[in-house]
Order: sequence, then structure tokens, then C-alpha cells
Amino acid sequence: MNMLSTTPPAIEDSMADYYVKRASYYERVYHKPERQTDLRAMEAWLAPRFAGRSVLEIACGTGWWTPHGAAQARRWLATDLNPETMAVARTKALPRRSDGREIVEFRAVDAYTLAEVGDERFDGAFAGCWWSHVALQRLPDWLATLHDRLDPGARVVMLDNSFVQTSSTPITHSDAHGNTYQTRPLDDGSTHEVLKNFPSAEQAFAMLGPRARDPQWIAFEHYWVLEYELS
Ligand SMILES: C[S@@+](CC[C@H](N)C(=O)[O-])C[C@H]1O[C@@H](n2cnc3c(N)ncnc32)[C@H](O)[C@@H]1O
Repeated sequence: MNMLSTTPPAIEDSMADYYVKRASYYERVYHKPERQTDLRAMEAWLAPRFAGRSVLEIACGTGWWTPHGAAQARRWLATDLNPETMAVARTKALPRRSDGREIVEFRAVDAYTLAEVGDERFDGAFAGCWWSHVALQRLPDWLATLHDRLDPGARVVMLDNSFVQTSSTPITHSDAHGNTYQTRPLDDGSTHEVLKNFPSAEQAFAMLGPRARDPQWIAFEHYWVLEYELS
């Protein structure tokens, strides 16, 4: 018997696989009518946050936030584990420099190691709808890995979903660490158990580590935004 085939995949692996399968219609979630007011406000808020900065985007997915975040950036490295989601992101209308050169570069990068980023350093970092998928027990180490790539004075912005009873997929259970899970159907009829956490501002602030300065939390109806700078 092949024991490997009976071992369930790590929740992180199954999450990555889930987003490959969902890539071609992922952005339906951004067309939910009740979320449009929040989305327009957040897109407008995001555009100037990284003016003149060199920014590392984690788990860019289909690049919903990439054109907004990169609008005034000097450089923007958009990364994701999955080429399938980035293939959609590459089709977006992306900002260019005044001389026509590209601001945004895409690269396959594992967010947990950032190994594929190489030696480059950044003075900005952005992650949309990624925090919620990182297991609580991994968040401090993941944040430290990210911060190691960032210069003093770097600006960090994370945004993610708030739980809204009338709009969110129900939470099915939680684990011993306090992570919560949803059972999500895909168009092919399969269902997937996805780790999805909904932190409070206080819970998020407690994870940030010693370099985070003056964290700010903006609560929209369907989303939250966290912004801080690094010492
Ligand atoms: C919820 S989507 C977020 C996409 C996009 N940032 C957004 O806000 O719409 C999560 C993304 O994480 C990516 N992902 C999963 N595991 C990853 C990993 N270990 N490293 C980098 N990206 C990963 C998936 O491919 C997917 O695109």
C-alpha cells in the first residue's frame, strides 16, 4: 500500500490547489453587489499608499488589487505560488512608467519562504486576502520572514475579509489553535475545506512583532485593512 496516498495534504497545500482550480472564476467574489461600495473605497485608498516605493506583493492571485496598489509605485513585484492565478493577473491593465516601461513584474514565489525573491529588498509590502489563510500558529514566523525583506521605514498594508453573516461562507469548525474553516464548493462539484480566519484588530496587532510601528486598522463593512510601518 502506498502510505503517501492516504496522507491528507497539509491544509496549506490543499488551499493552494483550491485556488488553482478556482483561478478562472475567482473574481466572481469581487462582483458581489453588496461589496461594491467597500471595494471602490478601498481601491481609491490603496492607490497612493505606495507612491514612489518598491513593493513586494504577496499572493497576488488574479491581481485584483495589483493595478490599484501599483498605480503610483516605483516598482511592484507581484508574487503568487500558482502560475494559474498569475496568468489572469497578467491580463490586467497595469500601470507603466512615463517612458512606457513596466512597473509590475510577476514571479512565482512561495509566500512562506520568499526564497524566489532573491536578495532584493523593498520599502513596501502588500497582501490582499492572504492573512486570513495563514494558520494562527504560523503568522508570527511568516510576518518575520516578510519583515526580513523590508527596509526600515517600509510601509506594510494587509487587507482581508470581515465575516458578514449575509455574505460570507459559513464557518464549519475551528481547531485547537483557534483557526476557523469553511467548506467551499467549486464549479466542478468538488468541495474544499479552506482555513479562513477573521481576526479582530487586537488579535492582528498582537501578531505583528517588534518592528511594527503605529498600526492602523480600518474596518469596512465586508473587509478590514491593516497598515503599519517598520522601524
Ligand atoms: C484568497 S487568494 C488572494 C488573491 C488576491 N491577493 C486577492 O486579494 O484577490 C489567495 C492566493 O494565495 C495563493 N497561494 C496559496 N498558497 C500560497 C503560497 N504558499 N505562497 C504564495 N501564494 C500562495 C493562491 O494561489 C491564491 O492566489
